Amino acid sequence: MLNDNLNNSPEIQNDYIKLIAEIMEIRKRGEVPLAYIRTYGCQQNVADSEKIKGMLSMCGYEFTDNPNNADFILFNTCAVREHAEDRVFGNVGALKSLKRKHPSVLIALCGCMMEQEHVANKIYKSFPFVGLVFGTHCMHIFPQLLYKSLVDGKRVFERDNDDLLVHEGIPVRRDGSFKGWLPIMYGCDNFCTYCIVPYVRGRERSRESSVILQEAKNMIDAGYKDITLLGQNVNSYGKGLEEKITFAELLKKIDDIEGDYLLRFMTSHPKDCTKELIDTMASGKHISKHLHLPFQSGSDRILKLMNRRYNVEKYLSIIDYAKSKIPDVSLTSDIIVGFPGETYEDFKQTLELIRKVEFTSLFTFIYSPRVGTPAAKMDDPIPYEEKSKWFSELLAVQEEIAAKRCAAMVGTTQRILIEGETGKDGMLAGRTSGNIVVELPGDKNTIGTFQNAEITEARNWILRGKLL
Ligand code: SAH
Ligand code: SF4
Ligand code: F3S
Repeated sequence: MLNDNLNNSPEIQNDYIKLIAEIMEIRKRGEVPLAYIRTYGCQQNVADSEKIKGMLSMCGYEFTDNPNNADFILFNTCAVREHAEDRVFGNVGALKSLKRKHPSVLIALCGCMMEQEHVANKIYKSFPFVGLVFGTHCMHIFPQLLYKSLVDGKRVFERDNDDLLVHEGIPVRRDGSFKGWLPIMYGCDNFCTYCIVPYVRGRERSRESSVILQEAKNMIDAGYKDITLLGQNVNSYGKGLEEKITFAELLKKIDDIEGDYLLRFMTSHPKDCTKELIDTMASGKHISKHLHLPFQSGSDRILKLMNRRYNVEKYLSIIDYAKSKIPDVSLTSDIIVGFPGETYEDFKQTLELIRKVEFTSLFTFIYSPRVGTPAAKMDDPIPYEEKSKWFSELLAVQEEIAAKRCAAMVGTTQRILIEGETGKDGMLAGRTSGNIVVELPGDKNTIGTFQNAEITEARNWILRGKLL
């Protein structure tokens, strides 16, 4: 008999999966229970949702895109910026009427937002129709929590139940059949002063390389063509493991697996990015020529306030080395505009840096204060409207650079993974090794395969091509 204590053992969680499967078998009377999962935030959350889907699938659930048909609704949430949280609150509020129409539906919330006490309390008080809430540290006990909700019918709120181990053996149900995520580590120890991630994802911990290699091999054998290794700071992979291994060594070991596939990784932190990593990229057989290296700000003063632990000179030295070793390298980055205390002079240094590096594309954000982070307590005198103006200026400069970079690719031949149809008649969309989108006419039977294409045209930052 299973007791009520929350239990980390994968065997016990499997027992709960079996119990739920039995309940579902009795309840459904010919109808399969349906789950609707909505994922917010980054690829880490996407990968977590794929595990939750794996567990639900073993419990007997199938999946629907329509929440109105679902027996179980789950939002996997993101806390990185206020806007992300507002969207979740708005969409959860909208479920109230659905619950009224279908009282038997179980509504659940999980992910990064739920690791914050003030958020979980708000959900508890303001959204009584939410029956199950669990944080990122409780994902491995999801079967037990679901069982409790289904059997007891009481509200279950659980967070922070973790010994911060890596939990292996959770089944994964991947969304894509040729493009997939492979987490190599969890958590973050960097505590950049603006960032909530270390608080909601816990301490940095790496998976054993043998487990990662086996999973990569299984994915390649199953036909995956585009595999992205995931971690908040992949460059510090291996810290705390018994075996001595760096990220570059792990990458090389995976790259040695035979097959026709492309290997990507994210995110690299400049403070830990090594020449060894760039050399491995340059000599790799399968490694994409894309380096996503967030610099956040072009001002040393702001980088220090952000606790990023590198300066512009160090950042540019990595970029120069990457350009010298990988001439066609595609560089992308994340930038925050309007960090507390940032002046227009600081911001101009960010513009200067993007002009120097010439990134293929950028992920740009206006600073958003997060409760509990050091930056949220810093003086922030610049009004949001002013920050928005700087932000628009940044976008305009980057648009010019991206257009120039794309135009320089016209006439080149690129190996492209065809990913799907564009929606326009007979047009397909794919990605280069550098992760740039290319639209081209072709047969949809080529979706999921690599094809050589000549780039014929650049329209701002979208490339057009023809299959060779
Ligand atoms: N681990 C990754 C990034 C994770 S979060 C790294 O270190 O690069 C993704 C991006 O969101 C960050 O790179 C940063 O640019 C942005 N971000 C994080 N916290 C933010 C905040 N409070 N306000 C605005 N942008 C933020
Ligand atoms: Fe956040 Fe910094 Fe960790 Fe990235 S490295 S997740 S920005 S604390
Ligand atoms: Fe958001 Fe959590 Fe990722 S806060 S960005 S989903 S790690």
